[in-house]
Amino acid sequence: MARIIAGVGSSHVPAIGAALDNGKTEEPYWKRVFSGFVKSQEWMRETKPDVAIIVYNDHASAFSVDLIPTFALGCAAEFPPADEGWGPRPVPVVKGNPALASHIAQSVILDEFDLTICNKMEVDHGMTVPMNLLFGKVDKNGHWPCPVIPLAVNVVMYPPPTGHRCYMLGRAIKKAVESYPDDLRVVIFGTGGLSHQISGPRAGLINSKWDKNFLDNLSKDPQKLVKIPHIDYMREAGAEGIEMVMWLIMRGALDDKVDEVYRFYTVPASNTAVGHIILENRARGGKAAGKRKPAAGKLKRAAASAKVHRVRSR
Ligand SMILES: [Fe+2]
Repeated sequence: MARIIAGVGSSHVPAIGAALDNGKTEEPYWKRVFSGFVKSQEWMRETKPDVAIIVYNDHASAFSVDLIPTFALGCAAEFPPADEGWGPRPVPVVKGNPALASHIAQSVILDEFDLTICNKMEVDHGMTVPMNLLFGKVDKNGHWPCPVIPLAVNVVMYPPPTGHRCYMLGRAIKKAVESYPDDLRVVIFGTGGLSHQISGPRAGLINSKWDKNFLDNLSKDPQKLVKIPHIDYMREAGAEGIEMVMWLIMRGALDDKVDEVYRFYTVPASNTAVGHIILENRARGGKAAGKRKPAAGKLKRAAASAKVHRVRSR
């Protein structure tokens, strides 16, 4: 059967994609950010998932205010990079896995989660930036290392789904994957955040204490996170901090007990706190069984300020 073997949380700041695409990764400002993902890329090369499910939000690229699905699952064979206003990012077309995606759609919808099924969809930085951070830079003529099933979540227009609903959707995705007969090793991404606010009087707000507490609980005690109301995300983590509910889909799709094998946190990238975590299921099953030991002990936590502060946009 298929199994979810690990979860990855990663910010998806658009300026990170611009830094990659414009050859700025060695500049000191950006090197600080990219250096935090070197070990992650090693982990991904070693883990070699057969499929990745990537939970992200569309930023008015595939959808608009005319059409706002709360949860939209990509069931297509491929997903081209979207034109986000300055042309598509120079990254490869993302190949999907329509068979597994359709299976997940059927299982989850019959479990009473009313997904929108997308048989044609372009994907923006919300998905491709975390792919670069975890898979490395891939030329547009190259290939991503594994197929991807996109799951777009509305966090751009009120009302987004609750954290609890996201967590429970993750549970349903776990059940769906585990009922798929093929022996596939699946990694699930939760993306977005961490704390940031991009407009209004509080523009530039970052709350490292909140972010670090969120990462701690995501790893050890996610039940403390699932009941956090939207207003608390907005007050504590900024208006765009609501993206963090997407990490709860990833966490819900994992086992209750996980090994945190890597963490990275830095402030800022553009005007956003960058957070990253890798959580492994202890029972890895399938082809993963016995393949490698959990990487627990490699934990790395970058120092972060515990105060709420503002940063300049870049
Ligand atoms: Fe975003």
